Amino acid sequence: MKNLQIDISNIKVFVDKNAVNQLQPEIKKHHKAVLDKTGKGNDFLGWVDLPSSIDKHLISSIEKTAKSIRDKAEIFVVIGIGGSYLGARAVIEALQDNFAALKSRKNPYIIYAGQNIGEDYTAELIEVLDKYDYALTVISKSGTTTEPAIAFRILKNHLEQKYGKKEAVQRIIAITDKAKGALKKLATDEGYQTYVVPDDVGGRYSVLTPVGLLPIAVAGFDIRKLVEGARVVEEMNKKSSSFSENPIALYAAARNALYSSGKEVEILVNYQPNLFYLTEWWKQLYGESEGKEGKGIFPAGVNNTSDLHSMGQYIQDGRRFLFETVLSVEKPNRELRIPTDKENLDGLDYIAGKQIHEVNHMAELGTTLAHVDGGVPNIRISIPKVDEYYLGQLIYFFEMGCALSGYTLGVNPFDQPGVEAYKTNMFALLGKPGFENETARMKKYLK
Ligand code: PA5
Repeated sequence: MKNLQIDISNIKVFVDKNAVNQLQPEIKKHHKAVLDKTGKGNDFLGWVDLPSSIDKHLISSIEKTAKSIRDKAEIFVVIGIGGSYLGARAVIEALQDNFAALKSRKNPYIIYAGQNIGEDYTAELIEVLDKYDYALTVISKSGTTTEPAIAFRILKNHLEQKYGKKEAVQRIIAITDKAKGALKKLATDEGYQTYVVPDDVGGRYSVLTPVGLLPIAVAGFDIRKLVEGARVVEEMNKKSSSFSENPIALYAAARNALYSSGKEVEILVNYQPNLFYLTEWWKQLYGESEGKEGKGIFPAGVNNTSDLHSMGQYIQDGRRFLFETVLSVEKPNRELRIPTDKENLDGLDYIAGKQIHEVNHMAELGTTLAHVDGGVPNIRISIPKVDEYYLGQLIYFFEMGCALSGYTLGVNPFDQPGVEAYKTNMFALLGKPGFENETARMKKYLK
């Protein structure tokens, strides 16, 4: 089967070929450090061999649990934030019918909660859950994150009122640390079915653990194919770090060479609306992994052709500190052609009979050429189609690409010290016990 491919020919006018090639020894060194688990943050490298070493019993258990949820729930609520929901959402939204909410389905409709603290969002969600049979998973590796904890407290009450305590327990699955955290304690005390987030896998690298696999399986997608796609790329990566054989190494080198030449913003571009959340997942992966110590490429995303009518102007003509990475899909899963029209008032008869995808593809090609002409280097990553197998390939590609890039940048791509600052201020402002000194310091902001 064909694999994901990369094309960096459209960065060559901007960076010297040597600037990429000169990074080969360094990438080789980081590639070895990741595989040998000797680099920075090496206690969080469990994702590296996850696809090839995943426990087959775990997969079967997840499939069995997913089936029992599918048998009784019309809606499955995934409670989690950041790495505890974006991977699942990226895969589910890429694979599901764009109008699934409005069509009859064999599988539960997946709804997300605890990824914001919007009161209206949660209140409106409750109104929906009043009307449908549902089950939920609460996902938090630390087991102490505020946003999902608030959502879970509310939905746990709702479930218990709707179904009674005993049945509510049957409708809750906790995914958390094997031993520590408030969620683990609650799950043990209440008797919830539980899956473990491995110690050595951080949130944003956890999509191929139960964190991603359970929601994806409940939504009705083939988690074995997803893991298999990732495994193939894991194998390919293991064999070599040479640019000619390993597109991940080339991606890491190309984006670092562009960064060194002043291209500080990378825009992930897609032309398929159902890849919106893949971009959101990628933004978290790269933003949280690389943006530290005053360094890092800023990860942005656009969804074309929609955003060609908004951000397109800036990309074509604004400040020249951007480069684009296009996620190109060779073939759609459906076929729909543009009809002929006798009147031809819209002047579209020159494309009558063509598949819509052909037009989309020409928009992609035309945009790439225009943006390169306008001073925006372009990396192209292509997959034959959007399915579980190729999404698995992309997941591993981007995870490993992030590790190699982060090491090349000189940071630890597996920690996130910067996310604590807002939490400390929020806790202090809310008067959380233990934050008394900070609360006193912040009093002036509450006036
Ligand atoms: O990638 C990460 O580590 C973070 O985005 C976490 O996943 C996110 O903060 C949620 O953390 P937790 O799973 O502990 O609730």
